[in-house]
Amino acid sequence: NSESLREDEQKTNGNGVHDGRVKKQFNQNVKSKKLGESGAHLSSGTSSCTQNQVSKEEDNYKPKERHKNSARKPAVFVLVNRERKIQEDRLKLPILAEEQAIVEAISENPVVILAGETGSGKTTQVPQFLYEAGYARNGRMIGITEPRRVAAISMSKRVAEEMNLSSAEVSYLIRFEGNATDSTCIKFMTDGVLLKEIQSDFLLSRYSVIILDEAHERSVYTDILIGLLSRIVPLRNKRGDPLKLVIMSATLRLEDFTGNPHLFKITPPVIKVESRQFPVTVHFNKRTAADYVAEAFTKACKIHTQLPEGGILIFLTGQQEVNRLVRKLRSAFPFRERRKENKKNNRQISRSENMNSDTDEKVEVDDEEMELDMEKAIQNARRAKKKHKGEVTLPDINLDNYSVIPGDDTEVDLLGEDGVEDIESDDDQLHMRGLAACQPMWVLPLYSLLPSNKQALVFVPPPDGSRLCVIATNVAETSLTIPSVKYVVDCGRVKTRLYDKVTGVSAFTVTWCSKAAANQRAGRAGRMGPGHCYRLYSSAVFNDQFEQFSPPEIQRKPVDDLLLQMKAMNIDKVVNFPFPSPPDLVQVKSAERRLVLLGALSEQKSEGEWTSRVTPLGYAISAFPVTPRFGKMLALSHQQGLLPYTVCLVAALSVQEVLLEVPIHGCQEQRENPKQTQRHWCQTRRKWAGVGNSLLLGDPMVLLRAVGAAEYANTHGQLLQFCTDSGLRHKAVTEIRKLRIQLTNEVNLNLPDLNLCVDPNMPPPTDFQSKLLRQILLAGMPDQVAHKVDEDEIKETEDKMKWKHAYRCAEMEEPVFMHSSSVLRKKSPEWVVYQEVFETSKLYMRGVTAIEPEWLPVYAPALCNLSPPLVDPPPRYDEVTEKIFCHVTGTFGNCV
Ligand code: CDP
Ligand code: MG
Repeated sequence: NSESLREDEQKTNGNGVHDGRVKKQFNQNVKSKKLGESGAHLSSGTSSCTQNQVSKEEDNYKPKERHKNSARKPAVFVLVNRERKIQEDRLKLPILAEEQAIVEAISENPVVILAGETGSGKTTQVPQFLYEAGYARNGRMIGITEPRRVAAISMSKRVAEEMNLSSAEVSYLIRFEGNATDSTCIKFMTDGVLLKEIQSDFLLSRYSVIILDEAHERSVYTDILIGLLSRIVPLRNKRGDPLKLVIMSATLRLEDFTGNPHLFKITPPVIKVESRQFPVTVHFNKRTAADYVAEAFTKACKIHTQLPEGGILIFLTGQQEVNRLVRKLRSAFPFRERRKENKKNNRQISRSENMNSDTDEKVEVDDEEMELDMEKAIQNARRAKKKHKGEVTLPDINLDNYSVIPGDDTEVDLLGEDGVEDIESDDDQLHMRGLAACQPMWVLPLYSLLPSNKQALVFVPPPDGSRLCVIATNVAETSLTIPSVKYVVDCGRVKTRLYDKVTGVSAFTVTWCSKAAANQRAGRAGRMGPGHCYRLYSSAVFNDQFEQFSPPEIQRKPVDDLLLQMKAMNIDKVVNFPFPSPPDLVQVKSAERRLVLLGALSEQKSEGEWTSRVTPLGYAISAFPVTPRFGKMLALSHQQGLLPYTVCLVAALSVQEVLLEVPIHGCQEQRENPKQTQRHWCQTRRKWAGVGNSLLLGDPMVLLRAVGAAEYANTHGQLLQFCTDSGLRHKAVTEIRKLRIQLTNEVNLNLPDLNLCVDPNMPPPTDFQSKLLRQILLAGMPDQVAHKVDEDEIKETEDKMKWKHAYRCAEMEEPVFMHSSSVLRKKSPEWVVYQEVFETSKLYMRGVTAIEPEWLPVYAPALCNLSPPLVDPPPRYDEVTEKIFCHVTGTFGNCV
């Protein structure tokens, strides 16, 4: 049969029990599968049974089709001891009926595409099929990539649980952490992690099969992995050591993978898994509401008060909106028990005080309170689940995914347009009381930054007598499936980070989602029975303004790190790379330009054509798992004892929103005196910023000191308290700490003599070091230099206020501004380098550091028109920082 079966299996993979079992199975050529009742029997020591016994069991437990091609069944099955309940649940998943077809297709073809609706069991089951078919033997692994970290972690846990294996055997690896070991046989990882692995082992020799999950999401890394694997698979085949590739996707846009002759020479077969999807009736709003959060609230109230039981799933665009609606709904349909308990503990916070606030952390306060009765609720729910054990059966029907009732004018809206009035009107309180009289609502948020234990709550049935209502961002669209949802409320929008192709300026914008995404969302209502989807927009908007599909990420994002990584892998002509959909040429060109500017690439003419090659600095940069700018900062810091600081800085700069602006969580005192707390935070930050070169290092200095102090606080078990007191987002600090450890390890790997450690007693940088750090920041961001607009120039303008705190930078026409939260705002230095520009009411700089103009010729030569003409040879970036003191006569051109 398959090559995996031909393999010599004498090698041990460090997992004695597992190997032993495999061997026994193999030698006796006995196929045994643990199914249903046989559990107790098999797990009690007799690890194999005869062919007859097994096929008898199969007759009982497997759908008939499984026997159609029994002659072609794989000869080896690796035993898995599943618990009975788990096995029963598995058998209800639609994908189980296709097990044989899937395993056969994979064994007979190098590349297979597996398409099936979300929830059909692809992610949790296919790795198990392959494990049982022997793909994880002889120290080889089954690798599965996920575009989201959440999914990699939660799916590895789930699969380990289903298979009764430890986390050392079914493991995960994401950017900051993982639990993979030498005995790992199924490895879930983010797609970025696998890409890094390809860099060190191009043939992926430790894997027997790679599964690219959620390929329809078209993340940049998944796309490039498809391209790379399209070349790696034939190479492995040629060596007689085949690697299998399985591309798993929702049933969307498969032709990007199948209809591209550059990608796969032989069109890979597509296996479609029919899912048990019930019809979903789609209702469009007559009008498209601008305030879709308020509209979603109204809809949820109507559903809850007027429609039969069934979970509600509401799609909004971001964390803040989700939390806002969670608060509103929890206030509208509270749990009595909780109220009582709150009173008892004297911990009731004024709901109205929180109503209009838009900050995420306010909800964390709520969450803390919720936890009081969360435990109890979970227990109740578990009890309820036990009671219903085995009774819930799904009718085996297969209908169209959903049926749309066409035309908003003719639509049947079960809820009608009237009913509950706008809850935000003056007599809020009255309404609230009225609504509170009905069944409580079990309201849960779901977004990717939510801690995973809180995310997992959506899988637990709600407490008795309450209705589940999950308010989610698009994470609930495909990667997570919540059973029991009957009503979907869809705002029709999605929040994406849009980048200017040339300047790289980014802004989060809320846009219409694609038709495909809207339909996917609607489908979530039909998991357990017929459902309804309420779209908070009209069918005219859907038809005229929604794109069919959203463009793949690779066509939306700057491709700097992608380009460098590919070049570091000797893929020189990126334009010729077999992408499923190639990135925009303008984007590739501007990324290339930025990398040349950074010194990571150098341009050369070969055979009459300009190409760019990775420089030694470029290779050093690409070794770090951070963006090329930050990689360069690390690569330049190997002197003057700077590395510990740069590691810390890069970790801090890589995480968003570390410093809080408004007091939101923490002790009662802080909530009562927000102004005072804020003043206290500002003072702390100013103190951290210091004086002299330290102050000139600016906002990064504040981060540096914050992270240093947080590490110290942590060793004394006071991290949370410290974060609360100093206005740091605890989750961000935790993330920074992880990244700092990882970067430290990475540096030690490259420079073993250095013995870098995460020192909880790290002193602040000296004045001289601070100065060098300013230069390093400039070296990392040579294209993000800004120059203050002249006083004289401002005098001449009509609108003087408009130009206050204004800076001009190289790439943009529009002025950029110093934000009021920057510690350099008062000082207002003439030359600065910024981490990024973000757009709100104006273009603001984030992470500002003061620099000296005489450093520009060395670190940002492209900004300078030098006389005599450009230094020849150009300055070498990998040379030590002393060079910065060189004086070059010249004028600074383009950027002023
Ligand atoms: O990958 P796909 O969307 O096809 O399905 P899956 O993620 O493998 O999920 C299969 C089933 O397992 C779904 O019904 C999920 O609700 C369930 N599941 C679960 O109950 N708990 C988890 N942690 C993960 C999945
Ligand atoms: Mg999945």
